[in-house]
Amino acid sequence: MKEKEIVNSIKEFGYIKENFDTSIDIVKEIKKMALEKNAVILSHFYQEAEVQDIADFVGDSLALAQEAAKTKADIIIFAGVHFMAETAKILSPDKKVIIPDLNAGCSLADSCPADSFEKFVKQYPDHTVISYVNTTAEIKTLTDIVCTSSNALQIVESLPKAEKIIFAPDRNLGNYIKSLSGRDMLIWDGACHVHEKFSVERIIELKKEHPNAKVIAHPECEQPVLVLADHIGSTSSLLNFTDKDNSSEYIVATESGILHQMIKKNPEKLFIPAPPKDSTCACNDCKYMKLISLKKIYSSLKYEQPEILMDRKVINIAVKPIKRMLEISEKLGL
Ligand code: 13P
Ligand code: SF4
Repeated sequence: MKEKEIVNSIKEFGYIKENFDTSIDIVKEIKKMALEKNAVILSHFYQEAEVQDIADFVGDSLALAQEAAKTKADIIIFAGVHFMAETAKILSPDKKVIIPDLNAGCSLADSCPADSFEKFVKQYPDHTVISYVNTTAEIKTLTDIVCTSSNALQIVESLPKAEKIIFAPDRNLGNYIKSLSGRDMLIWDGACHVHEKFSVERIIELKKEHPNAKVIAHPECEQPVLVLADHIGSTSSLLNFTDKDNSSEYIVATESGILHQMIKKNPEKLFIPAPPKDSTCACNDCKYMKLISLKKIYSSLKYEQPEILMDRKVINIAVKPIKRMLEISEKLGL
């Protein structure tokens, strides 16, 4: 494809749409190109199974940020959503960071627009701002410390007890951390379209059918779902739990992509995706995560686009709260 066609395709579709030679072994070609170009493929647990399987590293948001900060690769192909690729770019500004589809956003990040958040923060100048990594770079420039679901409690508790905190953008994670820490927290009213969908009634029905199944939930789920959970944690925490725990059945209240790693680690166990409220479908997919495909990874690696491009001034400010998070996590061995 010519440069102009690539630019036009990205403008129109958000990714490179090209006629694909179906006779090629796409997995082999991606691996070959990645080696030649010294590129690393990072994938979140919510990606399609085949995308997770081709990645050099699969992890939760914290592990992916840690990996992006230390990689020696020249190119990072980010099989995840935009805020994750942006965080990788902020941490490795001299590397080429590619997201195979620019439309891979995040409803949670969208629920916290920078202009209204800035007004909110200005009303409480004596508060420390802790923002979840699921935010835009602009929100990070208004933040004192970033956190992920893997370290949110420890980040909050790393502050002196009397500290007043603004927590954004996820209201469910925020309220969960507030209840655990007892800290003075003002919580932004944001949420994720996947984690707010789980049906308590249908989980209870499933529990009746599988009385020995343990319910495990991501803290972005609503409080009534969290009340039912035997274990609450980040994607990697849920995965580790099912690996170490001695039960054989689990009802999993988070995005269904994580089941791939759970089944891979423990194929003899039963993993049941928690059902959503408003559909007869048995799983919950993140429509943004699932925009990434092997084909899009292939084309984006081939043409090294669409690239995450950011203003250096924004990078220089946004990197501070992310580095604070990484430093605190390192000290705590997270
Ligand atoms: P984790 O940090 O637990 O991987 O979660 C990321 C996310 O987007 C949850 O919806
Ligand atoms: Fe964002 Fe929700 Fe998708 Fe996670 S699952 S990336 S919070 S929209």
